[in-house]
Amino acid sequence: MTAERHQTSPASQRVAVYPGSFDPLTNGHVDIIARGARLFDRIIVAVLVNLDKRPLFSVEERVETAREVFRDEPKVEVEAFDGLLIDFARRHGATSIVRGLRAVSDFEYEFQMALMNRRLAPDIETVFMMPAEAYTYISSRLVREVYTLGGAVQGLVPEEVEARLRRKFARE
Ligand code: PNS
Repeated sequence: MTAERHQTSPASQRVAVYPGSFDPLTNGHVDIIARGARLFDRIIVAVLVNLDKRPLFSVEERVETAREVFRDEPKVEVEAFDGLLIDFARRHGATSIVRGLRAVSDFEYEFQMALMNRRLAPDIETVFMMPAEAYTYISSRLVREVYTLGGAVQGLVPEEVEARLRRKFARE
């Protein structure tokens, strides 16, 4: 290990990017971000603009919601991004990408992305984290489906997200 790695200047801060669509942010995401915040000095939640999909929430809504959820967490920042993830990571001085792994079924897609990102940027490491068991079955897609069909999502998403869902579907 070089002496530089022991510097305590801001340049030596450990910065991670946690990318995703977050449509919407779930308690599984929140759990991973909390775990990441214990390992890194800063964790930047990078919200994909998704030009090719039709998201339930606009990118502005997704960014705003995540900022509300993490308003008391100084280590957590939230930004929108498009283009290549590794370019976003570089611009923000991040050397790690955090991704959650819920089940073996996530592995193939995650493995492909991690290896592609490593090929594009060998200096950026992907770090996989497992959420608490209680969140292993939660996905944004299922939350959208359940809520759209009239089911309850209490406990699966942060309160700020539930409030936005109620407003969007006029279920006050
Ligand atoms: O939560 P998601 O929707 O599975 O997140 C996917 C995401 C945002 C991580 C991925 O689509 C991504 O990184 N997109 C940015 C474009 C990019 O860099 N593609 C090459 C990476 S393999």
